[in-house]
Amino acid sequence: MHVPVRDFNLDKEEVINFFKINIEYARNFKTLHSKIKGFLDILSKTYEDGRPSVDDSENDCIKAILDLIEEIGSEDIKEFYDSVGARPSGLFPQITHARPMLSLDNTFSDEDVADFVASVYRFLGVMPDNSIAFTAEPKIDGLSMSIRYENRKLKTAATRGDGTTGENVTANILTIKDIPTELPADAPDVVEVRGEVYMAKSDFLALNAQMEAEGKQTYVNPRNTAAGSLRQLDAKVTASRKLKFFAYAWGEMSTMPSDTQSGMVETFRRWGFPVNPLTRRLTSVEEIIAHYRDIGLQRADLDYDIDGVVYKVDRLDLQARLGFRSRSPRWATAHKFPAEQAFTKVEAIDIQVGRTGALTPVARLEPITVGGVVVTNATLHNADYIEGIGNGGERIRPEGHDIRIGDTVIVQRAGDVIPQVLDVVLEKRPETSAKYEFPKTCPVCGSHAVREKNDKTGKLDSVTRCTGGFVCSAQAKEHIKHFVSRNAFDIEGLGTKQVDFFFDSEDPALMIRTAPDIFTLKQRQEASSLTRLENIDGFGRVSVRKLFDAIDARREIALNRFIFALGIRHVGETTAKLLARSYGSYATFAEAMQEAAPKFGEAWNELNSIDGIGEVVAASMVEFFKEPRNLEVVSRLLKEVTPRDAEAVTASNSPVTGKTVVFTGSLERFTRDEAKARAESLGAKVAGSVSKKTDYLVAGPGAGSKLDKAREVGVTVMTEDEWLALIGG
Ligand code: IVH
Repeated sequence: MHVPVRDFNLDKEEVINFFKINIEYARNFKTLHSKIKGFLDILSKTYEDGRPSVDDSENDCIKAILDLIEEIGSEDIKEFYDSVGARPSGLFPQITHARPMLSLDNTFSDEDVADFVASVYRFLGVMPDNSIAFTAEPKIDGLSMSIRYENRKLKTAATRGDGTTGENVTANILTIKDIPTELPADAPDVVEVRGEVYMAKSDFLALNAQMEAEGKQTYVNPRNTAAGSLRQLDAKVTASRKLKFFAYAWGEMSTMPSDTQSGMVETFRRWGFPVNPLTRRLTSVEEIIAHYRDIGLQRADLDYDIDGVVYKVDRLDLQARLGFRSRSPRWATAHKFPAEQAFTKVEAIDIQVGRTGALTPVARLEPITVGGVVVTNATLHNADYIEGIGNGGERIRPEGHDIRIGDTVIVQRAGDVIPQVLDVVLEKRPETSAKYEFPKTCPVCGSHAVREKNDKTGKLDSVTRCTGGFVCSAQAKEHIKHFVSRNAFDIEGLGTKQVDFFFDSEDPALMIRTAPDIFTLKQRQEASSLTRLENIDGFGRVSVRKLFDAIDARREIALNRFIFALGIRHVGETTAKLLARSYGSYATFAEAMQEAAPKFGEAWNELNSIDGIGEVVAASMVEFFKEPRNLEVVSRLLKEVTPRDAEAVTASNSPVTGKTVVFTGSLERFTRDEAKARAESLGAKVAGSVSKKTDYLVAGPGAGSKLDKAREVGVTVMTEDEWLALIGG
């Protein structure tokens, strides 16, 4: 028989891609196995109350099942994930984004918006005069997606993931009718369109009506359902869900079709993407806020959920100059709608002990739905907050009343932020209730809990801290959780539940009490004939192998992650990056920290001269490296793990990469913020004071003592124009 293959117009690459993706899926689904079914039955019971999403500990549990799915799969599994509206990662191949997918800073009030606009003018060194245009558009409550076209054909689609790497959901995205599979002939060769995949409210209601009619469990909200629908291994299910899309941003582009944000979005519209009709180009704060109110008024009538309005600087050259902070652009912000509130009862107040010993009171609430999400816990911040006192010592809540167990309270939830208890309904207070007494000792280790005095203000710190340090098992345990977390060592398979298990274990072949123990676990397991991890409930052969692989994969790690993982108070991710960049290697860093101990010596001054490191951070680091117990743990850790020397972050071919530069005088060609951001993006270090280690001093008019010092120690001095010439304009 003759098969007219040509007539089918098959593209070889597309076919290969199709099989690659689908074979991957097929592998994960083989035959039903009773073990999984039993496990799922138990697991699904935890969802009987219709909880909306999978939280960390549940996710860990599901990850354990995934190990089994590697060998065995079932329709039940699909149905189960479907019903909870979420699917743990690990089923889809990963894609590294050509450009990271960033998040947005939030603003909550009109003043915040005015501040944002003012900060744009200030950064660019322009007087506020309404000359800078902004776009304002709804913030869609869906899932961000990056869709890549090569030679005008849809190649891949990836979820945001952690911003750097996402999941390849191409097969599912191909089922969304809103998304063109081909671009017109005038589109550039490489195009990455980004936007939001969402489920229309009407489609969500119809789906739930159908589920109800079939006697099945209904879904909680459109966003989670859209997320669950996208993570279907069977793209046919995605297709049945009628997902939609709005384009509003882009990643890699081989050429730019426009030089403004609004022009780019207009181009996307021309190429066939839906763009949001409520997008405006505005110039004054008043216009922006009026548009925000207008969108707010329309919100309930829109057929999609939105949670705010996004403002972006329109001109792309200005966006480029404004650049990014660590995770979000300086040229955009999300103006959120007011949070959702609800009434419920405080059943108990528990105290959580954090990594740095902070005692945080948490209200256990009678479960209540706030804006579509079930809330059972809310933070009470600190002792003062319960008492009715704000950070500045002022009375908060209308009459400054306290919060008590048994109180009916107003709970507020805004976006992904932890819910808060806002106020108390005094009329409903039980007569027998008593003031809550904040503990004076740590509920975990019994050490004294104290409120430190702030050296500068002389005021009592609002945080009550356990003084137990290493003695306190809560602090030690939280430290390990921090150590393995995503932005630190990122050890997959060591989630909250597993850390609790290993930490609480008394068995020498299992216990993990300090971070180095993680890296000796495998060896201890191999040496022990008695306790095999794979025989313990919750661990299987596959998951144990994966865990050990994940641990081994981190035996070499970037210096900034290593520093961040140490959990030094006040040293967050950004500071850790700064330190890694400034000192280059762990040995240099550790030595400098030891030497910095006598305050105001050379090493201390050098540490303080790093732009972005203040005295509080510096003192905290010196403290950390003075403590023998810390040094002992770090030295054990270094036997297992090698921190990689920091590389110059970006643009290694820039003439200023790795150089230290100081800006002084009143700069005229750029603002100080812009100068700093630009230098750092080229891999230079910006310091606040001149030392022998300074490479360049860029001096504007009126430069004084720093200029003198630079001349004295022989640092190259240049004008702003010379600097611009050096970095290429
Ligand atoms: S712009 C560099 N515009 O909000 C910033 N984001 O917090 C790129 N989102 O992950 C994002 N509607 O999922 C932008 N009109 C809109 C948006 C929007 C929703 C989401 C997006 C992003 C998150 C940022």
